[in-house]
Amino acid sequence: MSNRQWTLRGEHTEYTVAVPDHGRWLELVSWGPHGVAQGPSPVAYTGPTPFLTAGDYAPVEYATDAVRPFAGAELVVELPNGDRRVSWAFQEATGDDRQLRVTFADRVTGLHAEHRYRFAAGTDVVERWVELHNTGDTALRLVHAASAGFNVPTPHGGRVSYQWGQWAQEFQLDHVDLGQGRFTVGSAQGVPGHLFVPWLAVRDSADETGPAWAVALAWTGSWEISAQRDTGGLTRVTAGRHLTDGPLTLAPGEKLALPVVAGAYSDEGLDGLARVWHTYQRGLAGDRLDRVRPVLYNSWEATGFAVDAGNQLALARTAAEIGAEAFVVDDGWFIGRHDDRGGLGDWSVDDAKFPDGFDAFIAEIRAMGLTFGLWVEPECISPASQLYAEHPDWVYAVDGRPQTLVRNQLLLDLGRLEVAEFVHSTVDGLLRRHDIGYLKWDFNRPRTEPGRPGAVARVDLDGAHVANLHRIYEQLRRDHPDVIIEACAGGGGRTDLAMAARADVFWPSDNTGPLDRLAIQHGFLHANAPHLLSSWVTDAPGLFDPRPRSLAFRFVLAMAGVLGIGADIRHWSTEQRAEANAWIARYKQIRDVIMRGEVHLIGGPDQARCAVQYTSPDGATVVVLAWHTGRLDGPGLLPSRPVRLPLRGLGHRDVYRHGEQQYSGSHLSAVGLPVQWTAEHDAELIVLHRA
Ligand code: GLA
Repeated sequence: MSNRQWTLRGEHTEYTVAVPDHGRWLELVSWGPHGVAQGPSPVAYTGPTPFLTAGDYAPVEYATDAVRPFAGAELVVELPNGDRRVSWAFQEATGDDRQLRVTFADRVTGLHAEHRYRFAAGTDVVERWVELHNTGDTALRLVHAASAGFNVPTPHGGRVSYQWGQWAQEFQLDHVDLGQGRFTVGSAQGVPGHLFVPWLAVRDSADETGPAWAVALAWTGSWEISAQRDTGGLTRVTAGRHLTDGPLTLAPGEKLALPVVAGAYSDEGLDGLARVWHTYQRGLAGDRLDRVRPVLYNSWEATGFAVDAGNQLALARTAAEIGAEAFVVDDGWFIGRHDDRGGLGDWSVDDAKFPDGFDAFIAEIRAMGLTFGLWVEPECISPASQLYAEHPDWVYAVDGRPQTLVRNQLLLDLGRLEVAEFVHSTVDGLLRRHDIGYLKWDFNRPRTEPGRPGAVARVDLDGAHVANLHRIYEQLRRDHPDVIIEACAGGGGRTDLAMAARADVFWPSDNTGPLDRLAIQHGFLHANAPHLLSSWVTDAPGLFDPRPRSLAFRFVLAMAGVLGIGADIRHWSTEQRAEANAWIARYKQIRDVIMRGEVHLIGGPDQARCAVQYTSPDGATVVVLAWHTGRLDGPGLLPSRPVRLPLRGLGHRDVYRHGEQQYSGSHLSAVGLPVQWTAEHDAELIVLHRA
């Protein structure tokens, strides 16, 4: 650390910030590979700013409306009389080359802001957040309270990558060239949501595969990320909470930590950024990465709500036979749950569906060698439930206004202490009473009504819900360390870095149709590691994407992360079961490489070549999963030459074997691994061993 300039170092990345002489803000000097700070700052601006202020152009890290009155601020604070323009004066800085804390204070209100930075060990991800402390004697209203601004040099144009979606079509990776104006994605749903992923990448448009920067949020509620390129060529990304419930109040003496926003840098474009996120999320998983996520069978697509011991045991027997390791009973096992109109809230086993008792049923599953898993959706409530009859005031509602049903259900106000206790004790009780090793925690409706009946003052409903959700997950992980937790929200509606740190795996989409799923997983893996990607083999043609693909295609696709089966395997032929058995056995051999390997995303779902390469940490094993996308505009058309998959990150002189065939690393990268598609042969799993 030098006088008012500090450099933080990650694995290959450094991030340098400074407080200018006037002391009114912290600004970026450079963000890039080690050594990037030597040379003129790519983001500094000293030119004229007619009709704007210097702060509107400066690469400010966390701007109030006093600093950036026109171009947009991260923090807007209002006093009771309506006054705004909180203004910083530098106080002090502490830290080392891994973490930094720079404090500013506002003379008028006594508001302090600690700008916090931390490089997660062994990664190229800098975590940023701000801690506010009201040291004055007046309550302050936070009208806008984002977590961070990130400044990215884009002298030739800003190219933004983002992911949009909807239910059954999440994680659609798309790109836009920033013109003038603001590009914003977000959610006002009280969850990250299906519509956009809290992740955004920026590159200079003249540099498609070179330096790339991305941000992602660790916030499981409403959020916003926006990108704006100024006329001087700087793209500024602002990320943080979206205050759907109105301004937050910061009472005298009160402190507030805003959510972490993570910033990633890679020299290797979007594909390189994916690896940076993967390393980071493996770190978030900690030693829970070591636990094997079981090959599971989930009965949802086979039996829907019509769960009973007979059909589940029949499915479980076949699942065990083909090599599954866990059996998950999805929705429909509890009283009053015959369709989506009832039952939520009354979390007791429907004895009529398990006439010999639930524990005897679980014991039978366990006797087949399977871990038992169960679906829950504990934050939701059916109006017809007993719970609702007893506690109608537990749901979000605005006095005097109609309540909105989504999927025929209401939402519990998890921010209330008694509701949080109910939700925790419900799930904890199930885990204590029964032999459960896998939990699928679902959430099938966003919050619509921003109200708590009877509340006398404004409540930060979003913040309270998220805080209690995180706390309950943490308690469950602590008290039931062997239970694997899958986070789901009608598919991928609750996927963010805070959940990646608390859940073991995500259910990214209800859509398992092969070609749709290929696109969903392609987007997902750009922002999320394979250990978080739950994927099932389902029947073809399936519920969503009617374009059939071979069983091989569906298996290789589901192997890209954590393999599961969701098909109605009771009806599978002996040949299909044998094929499934062989795929599952192969998966078990390679899954460690999938979970820990260095990922390279090759091509994409709308290109003639589409594959994912996983290289084991020691470089000795390379697993390539490849799919025929059905595009007829590339090589592979009979009788043409095969598709070539360019592999990355291999030693040029190293030799890799696949059966009798040998390839040099140079050949695999410059010429590519050949794959010959035909109508019948539409997927490949290739394992290369370094000689
Ligand atoms: C959601 C989930 C599905 C399934 C159903 C059950 O849609 O995403 O996987 O669990 O709920 O109702």
